[in-house]
Order: sequence, then C-alpha cells, then structure tokens
Amino acid sequence: MKIIRTIIEMQEQMQKLKSNGKSIGYVPTMGFLHEGHISLMKNARPENDVVVLSIFVNPLQFGPTEDLDAYPRDFERDHKIAEDQGVDFIFYPSAEEMYPDSASVKVSVVDRTNVLCGKSRPGHFDGVATVLIKLFNIIQPTRAYFGLKDAQQVAVVDGLIKDFNFPIELIPVETVREEDGLAKSSRNVYLSEDERQQAVELSRSLEMARHAIERGERNPEELVGMMKNHIHENTSGIVDYVEIYSYPELKELETLKGKVIIALAVKFSKARLIDNTIIDLE
Ligand code: PAJ
Repeated sequence: MKIIRTIIEMQEQMQKLKSNGKSIGYVPTMGFLHEGHISLMKNARPENDVVVLSIFVNPLQFGPTEDLDAYPRDFERDHKIAEDQGVDFIFYPSAEEMYPDSASVKVSVVDRTNVLCGKSRPGHFDGVATVLIKLFNIIQPTRAYFGLKDAQQVAVVDGLIKDFNFPIELIPVETVREEDGLAKSSRNVYLSEDERQQAVELSRSLEMARHAIERGERNPEELVGMMKNHIHENTSGIVDYVEIYSYPELKELETLKGKVIIALAVKFSKARLIDNTIIDLE
C-alpha cells in the first residue's frame, strides 16, 4: 500500500493506472475510520482493480462554530485499518496542499440543500462539493463509494456528478450500526455514558416511524410529531430536525408516496448526531 501526500504524484499514479485500463474504486473520508468506512472499502475491494482511500479533514465544510479543530484524528490507526482492508493507495494531503491560495472560483450547491443538514449547516455542502470536485479530478475514479448514513450528501453528490459530467458511478452503501442500532459515527466518542445509552432512541424513533408506515400511516406531520415526542421523552438531546422528504429530490410531501427519507439530527452536549431511513413505498 502506498501513502501519497501530493496532488501531482497522486494524479500521475492514477493516470498511469487508467491508461493501463485499470478500474479505480474510491472511498473519500475524513479519517478516524470505523466500521462504516470499512464497509465502503469492503464494497469497493471486489468491484475494482485498485482501491483508493482519501483521508482529509476538509476545513471548507466546517462552519465557524463547528468542531474542525476537535475533529478526531489518528493516522496510524487508519493506516493499519486500510492495510487490513486491502486498500492500494491512501491519499493523505495537508490543508496547504489542497488549498494553497485563496479561491478564484466558488462552488455553490443550489438544489437539495435548503433542508436537513444543508439548512442547519449553511455552506457545509458547498465545502463538500468543492473538495469532491478537486478529489474527483485528482483521483479520477471509476466508482465512488458513499454511505447512506449521510443520505443528503449522497443526493448532493448525485447532482454534482450529473451536473459536471464526471464519468463516475456513484455507489451508495447502507448505514452500518452498533448492535443496539446507533449509527456508527466518528462523533459517537463525544457522547457521555448516559448520552450513549439514550442515543439508541434515535434509531428506535426511525423504526417506530417505519412500523407506523407499514401499518398504513401516510401523514408526514403525524410521523414527525410521534418521533419528536419519542426523542424528547427518552433523551436529553435537543432535536435539530426531524423531517420527511422525497428521495433523492428532497422535496416536501403532503402525503407519503414513492421513495421517501425520514431523517433526524439531535444535539447532545458535545455531539450532534444524524440518522435516517429510506423507504420505498412503490
Ligand atoms: P466522513 O464523515 O469521514 O465519511 C466518509 C464516508 O463514510 C461517507 O460517505 C459517510 O457517509 C460514510 N459513513 C460514515 N458513517 C457511516 C456508517 N455508519 N455507515 C455507512 N457509511 C458511513 O462524509 C465525509 O467524511 C466528508 O463529507 C467527505 C465525503 C469525505 C468530503 O469531505
């Protein structure tokens, strides 16, 4: 496995592989790898000749009051995990390498971002889109693997790939969960013991909504109300949002139909957790 820290070397290596007809599976991450990231690598490994993992905590996608400096990092551990998963290249650039000068072009995502995390984190998806345009041009992947834990990110990347004609196949991967149902996240380490116990109620509230839908409930307001109550009564977290939209368009629905996403974000004392479920009603 090779660790590459410069854009020029990464591009050269990838161009060589592509001209030899190799397919490239790409897993973009911000590191501090867990089972969720591992699942992306496990999906990529058998489907591609070469697997590339990038580790870059992208400052552009963090708001001024968000956890950029405190974001957990452990390259040695990540390195070992990537090796165990048979990754061929780790692209591990510095912030100076990725953003050497002030920008002359700004990327602004105008669709699928006025709701959910896009609404609570202004500018976040502009930062995600900017870094992904750069990373896609550096790595030139055949397939890119993204987790449905961040389903809005998948929807935005879907739009980005289509709008900018990247010849990349987007592969969404199911959310990996702890045994009790909590979605795996690098931010779970910031939960206190009590909060960790309570956090299971987030995925439970999604399960409750799923069951209500199975029993015939189609009114989004009813479902949202039920979930907010459940979270309020069973956790100390503060609900940022519980919302239901069409997926991947993220449009409001008066009554549930087609493919829908039920998504939530809840703030605990030191961590804001997100989770979602996607249901196909067709
Ligand atoms: P990061 O939060 O490190 O996540 C990297 C990838 O892992 C994302 O596609 C995310 O959806 C996926 N992932 C995280 N937790 C998961 C889980 N429990 N199950 C399945 N997949 C999971 O997302 C980012 O980084 C950044 O925004 C990035 C795309 C790298 C751009 O900077």
